[in-house]
Amino acid sequence: MTKTVARKAARRAKKAVGTRVERRARVARRPRSGSEGPRTLCIDIGGTGLKMLVLDAGGRPINERARIATPQPATPASVLRALKTLIAAQPRFDRVSVGFPGVVHDGVVKTAPNLAPSWHGHDLAKALRTATRKPVRVCNDADVQGLGDIAGKGVELVLTLGTGLGSALFVDGRLVPNLELGHHPFRHGSTYEDLVGKAALEKAGKKRWRRHVRAAIAQLDPIFNYRTIYLGGGNARLLKPADLPKNARITSNDAGLLGGIALWR
Ligand code: BGC
Repeated sequence: MTKTVARKAARRAKKAVGTRVERRARVARRPRSGSEGPRTLCIDIGGTGLKMLVLDAGGRPINERARIATPQPATPASVLRALKTLIAAQPRFDRVSVGFPGVVHDGVVKTAPNLAPSWHGHDLAKALRTATRKPVRVCNDADVQGLGDIAGKGVELVLTLGTGLGSALFVDGRLVPNLELGHHPFRHGSTYEDLVGKAALEKAGKKRWRRHVRAAIAQLDPIFNYRTIYLGGGNARLLKPADLPKNARITSNDAGLLGGIALWR
């Protein structure tokens, strides 16, 4: 090899190394896309339906939402069996978030008014950890829905209108966990849930039910003095936005799943 050829080869090698280094630096600077981080399997356990989907690290769904009817009686064994069937058909995931329709402390169920009484004391987080071999976080379903709905400023209240009445309270985006407005007395010896839950809708009809929802909001507004009240859950779509106060928003039922990613923040 002549001196000139050797010099040219050395220059080419130096340039190639430089290019590799620069390329590596460029990759490091590039923002991580949602597809690179952990995927979250989000499960919503309801009195009427069991739903789930997988979110990428940016909180975007990577598959269609799956849903089946909640088995009756809805015991821990029957619900877990149904969940396992749905889980088997999900794409790969790294962790699990669950919204449960009752009070939950550290993954253990304390109350489940619209499921079988045998849920009381059931360690749902542990059962799903064993079933999936992934880390699991379980929270009240309205709390999870709220995490998917709120703006994160001031006091915000979330009501979920489904089989039961769910409620979640946030202060500057921080959750006050397990607020149970549904079972608080409302009118004439009836609770909020008695008057705006699914059974009330079926018994009273849409028109009276809407009136009850408006009356519940009118009662709650001067108690909590929230900036915004979010109305979610499967029956929120029956409300007429024009009938609601200016600080009320009807939200997507899917927030119950999309909020699942917030449990890992
Ligand atoms: C339960 C709440 C739950 C709501 C909606 C109520 O009966 O007490 O914890 O959030 O139903 O599922």
